[in-house]
Amino acid sequence: MEYLNYGKTGLEISRLCYGAGRLQDTCKTIEAGAKMMLKALDEGVTFWDTAEGYGTQPHLGEAVRQINRDEIVIQTKTAVKEHDSAAASIDKALKELQSDYIDVMLLHAISSPDDLLNREREGAFDAFREAKAAGKVRIIGCSTHVYTGPVMDAVIDHPEIDVILTTANKEGRMLEGGTLDKHLEYIERAYNLGKGISIMKVVVAGDIPEEDMPDWIEWGFNLDTAHAINLGMTKESHINLDVGIARASARKRLIQSKAA
Ligand SMILES: NC(=O)c1ccc[n+]([C@@H]2O[C@H](COP(=O)([O-])OP(=O)(O)OC[C@H]3O[C@@H](n4cnc5c(N)ncnc54)[C@H](OP(=O)(O)O)[C@@H]3O)[C@@H](O)[C@H]2O)c1
Repeated sequence: MEYLNYGKTGLEISRLCYGAGRLQDTCKTIEAGAKMMLKALDEGVTFWDTAEGYGTQPHLGEAVRQINRDEIVIQTKTAVKEHDSAAASIDKALKELQSDYIDVMLLHAISSPDDLLNREREGAFDAFREAKAAGKVRIIGCSTHVYTGPVMDAVIDHPEIDVILTTANKEGRMLEGGTLDKHLEYIERAYNLGKGISIMKVVVAGDIPEEDMPDWIEWGFNLDTAHAINLGMTKESHINLDVGIARASARKRLIQSKAA
């Protein structure tokens, strides 16, 4: 497994990120979900992504209870826009995650420049800033779901957004607002500015043939401007496949860096 700095955040993450968005599809109890997270941790996956809206913070929290908190980096999100509800979301996340801090807190699914710039989220942003000042949150960022073009301009240029979770896959499937080539330029620009970059929809939320999964996942790991490849693993077989590809990618990148 490769471990690297998440942009300039000061956090060290595993390049394979456990996307816990659909963990409940296969893990019907919190304990079963925690077991999957711990299995991934045993395989070296130390970066975990969840959200208030996924309902899986308690699953991660049950795993956190059984380990040392500093073994992992947790990224979570809230989609609420007003100050008080965002502050309540952060406190709820801390409780559900059984932790006294959140490594990365994201504004969930910024969908237009106005959403970020014209103060629609300013209340939530203020609650994030206060939580950071109070030590409850370490790093602030956003996810952009499927949007590129002006949404990427807005989030990249925002000086307080230190992490971006964005869509990227080998055919640019699910991207709205621009081409894959242009989107990859946005990602590169954000990466060069020192933002932490995670990519999602790498296997199009499962909408590709099973036999093609390794190719699409490898494409994600070949994207050098992505610090983290977020895969929505729901079964142990996903963990085994994705960890194997992550390890092969780590070996390849090490050989390349030594040769350079
Ligand atoms: N706006 C946002 O912030 C946002 C939005 C969406 C997702 N996310 C994050 O990104 C994560 C990934 O979600 P995504 O929508 O991008 O999905 P994805 O990772 O592109 O696809 C995940 C789905 O692909 C299928 N799959 C088959 N083989 C797999 C393998 N080896 N590894 C992983 N998945 C495999 C599974 O579906 P089947 O079980 O149906 O085969 C799985 O549920 C989420 O868990 C969440 O953490 C964030």
